[in-house]
Amino acid sequence: MTRLPCRLAVLLSGTGSTMVNLNDHILNGTLPAEIAVVVSSRKRALGLERAKERGIETRVLSRRPFTTEGIFNDVAYSEALAALIAPFSPDLVAMAGFMTRLADPVLHQFDVVNVHPALLPMFGGNGCYGHHVHEAVLSQGVKITGATVHFADSNYDTGPIILQEAVPVMEDDTPDTLAERVQAAERRIYPRAIALYAQGRLQKEGGRVRILDASAAEF
Ligand code: GAR
Repeated sequence: MTRLPCRLAVLLSGTGSTMVNLNDHILNGTLPAEIAVVVSSRKRALGLERAKERGIETRVLSRRPFTTEGIFNDVAYSEALAALIAPFSPDLVAMAGFMTRLADPVLHQFDVVNVHPALLPMFGGNGCYGHHVHEAVLSQGVKITGATVHFADSNYDTGPIILQEAVPVMEDDTPDTLAERVQAAERRIYPRAIALYAQGRLQKEGGRVRILDASAAEF
């Protein structure tokens, strides 16, 4: 159980539409949370500007100082990230299009959730993000895709699944049309999953997440 409102540290690398959606749900009262800080791994990320416009504290933590001869030191990066967000006392770290794998210094200190535009464990992993996911889904000819919210671990797109929503693939879908419907699903399930966390209703049992009091009203 966390405090209400649940304090979030939101991590992003891109346009920030996931962060904006969370913020909109907070503002309209459907997510009992507040965004304490937004951290971007890219200083030019549009998501940073969108956070600033909304009066949210922002920080940048580039990958470059943690990369030597093309090898990224994820442990050192995660140490720096944990030190950066700790003063904001987050109850939960929410990845929102954050294109960096986290390591123990963050994962041991904080619960971390992620949203992914496919039905994991299919179509996840390093390099499988954003449009690449929808292109892969179409080229493999699957009939059903969707969105997944899960607790993050130290790999890309793995960890106990909290919520999923299925999205049918239509005959005339392009990566763009499919992305639009999957993003709509993401925008529904990510705030719901965080609200369940905030209410203390997620119980991890090994690789599985049980939703406590599942018949109770949700936010
Ligand atoms: C979202 O669609 C999210 O599912 C995806 O990145 C996008 C971020 O969009 N995340 C992953 O693919 C994680 N593997 P945004 O920058 O507009 O919020």
